[in-house]
Amino acid sequence: MKFFIDTANLNEIREANDLGVLDGVTTNPSLMAKEGITGESNIKKHYVDICNIVDGDVSAEVIATDVAGMIKEGTELAALHENIVVKIPMIKDGIKAIKHFSNEGIRTNCTLIFSPGQALLAAKAGATYISPFLGRLDDVSTDGLNLIHEIRTIYDNYMFDTEILAASVRHPMHIIDCAKIGADVMTGPLSAIMALANHPLTDIGLQKFLADYAKGNK
Ligand code: E4P
Repeated sequence: MKFFIDTANLNEIREANDLGVLDGVTTNPSLMAKEGITGESNIKKHYVDICNIVDGDVSAEVIATDVAGMIKEGTELAALHENIVVKIPMIKDGIKAIKHFSNEGIRTNCTLIFSPGQALLAAKAGATYISPFLGRLDDVSTDGLNLIHEIRTIYDNYMFDTEILAASVRHPMHIIDCAKIGADVMTGPLSAIMALANHPLTDIGLQKFLADYAKGNK
């Protein structure tokens, strides 16, 4: 399972990368705005900065919503760095743009996936990744993990190469459940990844080991 971090914060990306288990980064326009990154040239520079920190796929989202605009923007984003994956929304023109990029050998991440039908369409168009937003489904009392299950079944039935990138992950149990289902990738905050490391028995056990060592090595 690949671990991506869902942020545009360079310090957080560096910290996650230093752990040695980071496989990539996802961003979106809201995350860029949160960091105060505005204007086309600043946004592009920020993507390059992220690519220079992490040796892995970095999703960069288009703003255009028409096929010509998405193709223009996506082509420019893909040219910034070999690790850029063009992130495209699941809308009619997005499907056409994904098909175009698939024919051109440019990798894509189809975002804002909330149903199995959307995931099937994106895979048919040749998306490299699809991003089902499981946390946002949970937020509206719908089982986000069930969506990941359904997509896994459909992709396995037809051996689609499209990778399931479980997005909108909120906590460590989301990561564990996605791993059990067989999601290819998860993206979430650093706090959710770090929480995987925690167990009170680990802390108690370590304290005891260190205390026993200290007793014997006075
Ligand atoms: C996915 O690529 C999105 O950036 C992200 O996971 C959305 O998460 P949120 O629902 O926590 O905003």
